[in-house]
Amino acid sequence: MSRQMHLNLFIHSRGHHEASWRHHASSPKSVFDISYYQEVAQKAEKGLFDSIFLADQLALGEDIANGPRTGLEPVTVLSALAVSTTKIGLIATASTTYTEPFNLARQFASLDHISNGRIGWNIVTSWLATAARNFGSAPQISHTERYERADEFMSAVLGLWDSWAADAIVDDRASGRYAKRDRIRPVGFAGQHYAVAGPLNLPRSPQGRPILVQAGSSETGRAFAARYAEAIFTAQMEKTTAQDFYYDLKRRVRENGRQEDQALILPGLSPLVASTETEAKRMADELGELADPEVGRKRLSQRFGGHDFSHLPLDKKLSPEDFPDPDQIEAARSRTEVIVNLVKRQDMTFRQLLVSLAGARGHHTFAGTPEQVADLMEDWFRSKAADGFNVMPPLLPAMLDVFVEEVIPILQKRGLFRTCYDGDTLRSHYGLHEPVSQFDD
Ligand SMILES: Cc1cc2nc3c(=O)[nH]c(=O)nc-3n(C[C@H](O)[C@H](O)[C@H](O)COP(=O)(O)O)c2cc1C
Repeated sequence: MSRQMHLNLFIHSRGHHEASWRHHASSPKSVFDISYYQEVAQKAEKGLFDSIFLADQLALGEDIANGPRTGLEPVTVLSALAVSTTKIGLIATASTTYTEPFNLARQFASLDHISNGRIGWNIVTSWLATAARNFGSAPQISHTERYERADEFMSAVLGLWDSWAADAIVDDRASGRYAKRDRIRPVGFAGQHYAVAGPLNLPRSPQGRPILVQAGSSETGRAFAARYAEAIFTAQMEKTTAQDFYYDLKRRVRENGRQEDQALILPGLSPLVASTETEAKRMADELGELADPEVGRKRLSQRFGGHDFSHLPLDKKLSPEDFPDPDQIEAARSRTEVIVNLVKRQDMTFRQLLVSLAGARGHHTFAGTPEQVADLMEDWFRSKAADGFNVMPPLLPAMLDVFVEEVIPILQKRGLFRTCYDGDTLRSHYGLHEPVSQFDD
């Protein structure tokens, strides 16, 4: 069978556009109402998406007065979605900086059991500086150290997930033997930042272990992704940068002795779909007008680790000198690179940049007909910019509905997307191999 694309639905607020929550076409439900997430996940499952995904921040943003930029805790939400869907993969973000490997390994293994093998973990190091204040009084640790800790964290978590052999449970009522004790082993991990005795207190999970997803694209983030990630989310504003990223990441994956099809690259795409191009553009303008540039200014400041943009006039033509050097940023480094690179390539005012970021925070946005959206996806997919997409509807569920009803059938007709689920696990939807356990090494 020819190569097919993978689709993940990124569920965020009432849609990814900054002003989606105010728009008449977005859900009237609260983002703290579990039925909202259930409804959206079920729609994505009907559309045969590989997976849904929830992001997470560990501090309340300063812009809560201007929109619901928060939501329920993702691991808890996945637990509810696991029992209200049956096929679709479920991915939650969890931080390596602000938890312990044992907690995380246990929660995600439990979710993998609850969902019968449909869980993925989006591994993040947490870029938001204010999160540090919720976990002790220390200032945020550096970008480099966060990734160093993440590396160690991974060794401990992978050890815990492999601490039970697949055949450890016997559950034999007649003989009174529940488990083979010699098929469950301590981990004995002792690093610089973490120490875990193990074993985990629950058995190997249905997928062997949850799928490892990663979303940091800096130099350090790419090296980390190449070692561990089975799916990679990335923000790319243009096809050419997406191709460069794709080429670079696949090379790094090969250099790590891994098969390149075992690390899927899924750039974000925020499609605004309407029956005519004019109508799609009109809706994009309507959303743009609802967004407040002063809110965008605050959000930009957060991305750049608190840099002060307050004196930059909205109608100023931008140049890279208006921004701090991304290499020095301790917050969302790769996203600041995306923004500065965009300013280098395109003539734009500060206001235009903020309107563009209001669409999908630095991911690719597109307004057009179903055919045009399918053309764009096919083009990126065939020209090695993507193995599929992290679909980020600007309005939820309205733009998911139209995507499922009108774009997916076109992709299917072109042989680019599945027409039914072939398996029951996320590993199977993504075409990933069973992980080899360290247990019998
Ligand atoms: C699609 C996508 C989703 C992300 N979700 C989160 C998230 O939920 N929480 C978070 O702290 N960072 C999130 N990030 C940010 C990255 O994981 C990473 O921490 C950040 O970009 C800084 O690392 P980098 O400089 O290597 O990119 C996300 C990035 C992308 C592209």
